[in-house]
Amino acid sequence: MNKDIKSILLSEEKIAELTDALAKQINRDYADKELLFVIILKGSVVFAADLLRRLTVNVKIDFMQASSYGTSSVSSGSVKIKKDIENDAAGKNVLIVEDIVDSGNTLFKLKKLFEERNAASVKICTLLSKPERRETDVVCEYVGAEIPDEFVVGYGLDYNEQYRNLPYIGVLKPEVYGG
Ligand code: PRP
Repeated sequence: MNKDIKSILLSEEKIAELTDALAKQINRDYADKELLFVIILKGSVVFAADLLRRLTVNVKIDFMQASSYGTSSVSSGSVKIKKDIENDAAGKNVLIVEDIVDSGNTLFKLKKLFEERNAASVKICTLLSKPERRETDVVCEYVGAEIPDEFVVGYGLDYNEQYRNLPYIGVLKPEVYGG
C-alpha cells in the first residue's frame, strides 16, 4: 500500500463489482437508445474507462472539464466550464460520468446545462457519493457507493494532482494534507 494511505476504503475487487453492477443497470436502461457518455475530467477517467468497457449499448464518448475547487478542498459553489464537449447535446441521451459527488455543485450546474441544451435526457452516473457533504439536491441516477466524509484518493481521485494512479480508493493520512 502507498505510504500516505491510512486505509483502503474500496479495493480493486470491490470497485470492479460496483462497476459491473452499474454497467448492468445502464445496459438495461439504454438498451434501445444511443448514449452520449460525457466524462468529466480529470478524476473520472479511470472509472469511465472501466465502465465503458462493460457497456454493450450504442455509445459515443465526449469530455468536459469543470472547476469549482481551484486548489482548495472546499467547493466554491461557482462552477466554471474549462473544457466543453464537441458533440451537439440536443436530442441526445446524455450520461454524465463522475468519480465523486461531494457538495453536488458541479453536477447541479452540468445537469442544468445539458437540459438547457435540449438533451433528450440527462442522467448522472457516479462511482462515489458523499451524502453528508451535499449542498444541492441534485439527483444521481446511478451511484456505485455512498461513502463517509473522509479524504479519499486513488482510482482517479487526487490530492494536489497526486495518487490518481492508485488502483484502489484509499483514505489519505491526515498529516499528508494537514488535517
Ligand atoms: C471533483 C469531482 C467532481 C467534483 C465534485 O473534481 O470529480 O467533478 O469535484 O465535487 P462537488 O460535488 O462538490 O461539486 P475536481 O474539481 O476535484 O477536479 P478533478 O476531477 O480534475 O480532480
